[in-house]
Amino acid sequence: MRIVVVGSGGREHAICDTLAEEGHQVVAAPGNPGIAARAEVTTEPVESLDADLFVVGPEAPLVDGLADRLRAQGKLVFGPGRDGAMLEGSKNFMKRVAAEAGLPTAAFAAFEDEAAAFRYLESMAPPYVVKTDGLAAGKGVLVTEDLAEAKADVAAKLSGSAFGEAGRRVIIEEGMVGPEVSLLAVVDGERAIALRPAADHKRLLDGDRGPNTGGMGAYSPVPFFGAELEARAMAEIVEPAVARLIEMGIDYRGVLYAGLMLTSAGPKLVEFNVRFGDPEAQVVLPALGAGLGEFLAQAAAGEMGDPPPVRHAAAATVVMAAPGYPEAPRVGGVISGVEAAGTMAGVKVFHAGTKAGPGGELLVSGGRVLSVTGFAGRMEDALARAYAAIARIHFEGAQYRSDIGARALSAGRQSEKA
Ligand code: AMP
Ligand code: GLY
Repeated sequence: MRIVVVGSGGREHAICDTLAEEGHQVVAAPGNPGIAARAEVTTEPVESLDADLFVVGPEAPLVDGLADRLRAQGKLVFGPGRDGAMLEGSKNFMKRVAAEAGLPTAAFAAFEDEAAAFRYLESMAPPYVVKTDGLAAGKGVLVTEDLAEAKADVAAKLSGSAFGEAGRRVIIEEGMVGPEVSLLAVVDGERAIALRPAADHKRLLDGDRGPNTGGMGAYSPVPFFGAELEARAMAEIVEPAVARLIEMGIDYRGVLYAGLMLTSAGPKLVEFNVRFGDPEAQVVLPALGAGLGEFLAQAAAGEMGDPPPVRHAAAATVVMAAPGYPEAPRVGGVISGVEAAGTMAGVKVFHAGTKAGPGGELLVSGGRVLSVTGFAGRMEDALARAYAAIARIHFEGAQYRSDIGARALSAGRQSEKA
């Protein structure tokens, strides 16, 4: 098939690479230098392109209605229309659907008024959770034990100074506690099929300290989220959500990504995303055997078959971010060693925030720069491969976590003992 992939990040590189490896003719719009090494890239408007299938990577064009515009031209599209994409585009809408579908999730309230928001915060127990209602690239969430910090964050968001219009309405949530899992389900308008679960590391620094980011690393599978918990999360969260969407007249075709927290009372929904996770896609998709293109095309056509088999038992990715990320990434640094790292056995280096410089050198051009991924039969080997590859890559001020997958390794050791 000829497949157009919309986007330019590490997730889109992983999608393009997996589809190209299956023999599809891939065109990325606009793509990035890593994608350009093995697929066509174009800056033409997506609506002007022709293909057997369009796969929309990021949330912003989905919320903006790109899938609707392409479908109106008669094209086959993997990705929800604007109506379904509002599950990610508005946390308030997501919470409404969650309430109507009876999904387990944190209690919450939405505020545009500061004094009312402060009163609600004072009535809650820590941790305090403050979110922007609109899109903020994964960075609009504060989780803190400190009431004064929570209030200052509400004030900054409502004033528009922190996140512009996206912050003019804030959501304050009950704090949930537990490990997090990303459950990515492919939906064909009627049914949902889960891909292998992954776990993400949202905080910038080792030990889950520092600010929230778009994601600093991920791994799959997740040893503390076994088949029983997955079945429960599908039955209690993903399937009722899809049923509710159908009742609302929303024909949802694409990824429904449930961000889960494994609380003492069972899996609870933190958020829905309407696309593959980034960096979860980098560990989920390339670990599959052939058949992703067919599977996505079937889902887009409303008649999904079986998902592709898994070929790598373990996958882990470590994100290398620019200095100053996430507040104020400093771009322009020269990156070296990517090619050497990419030739190592069981390693793929996905580009995110990179661009080609005037002399053909590779430059830092965004917050998350590279997603360095290892594949192996065992998680410790996948992680070792990712970190060995990172040791070959250099750019000034690179930030990355050294503890990606630590929880998977300790959970794995416990289940070996049991
Ligand atoms: P979100 O953008 O809603 O996924 O939030 C980003 C991150 O903030 C999540 O992955 C969690 O780590 C954290 N978070 C969000 N909501 C809550 C909550 N209600 N309780 C505890 N942590 C949360
Ligand atoms: N890694 C989190 C996300 O894609 O939203």
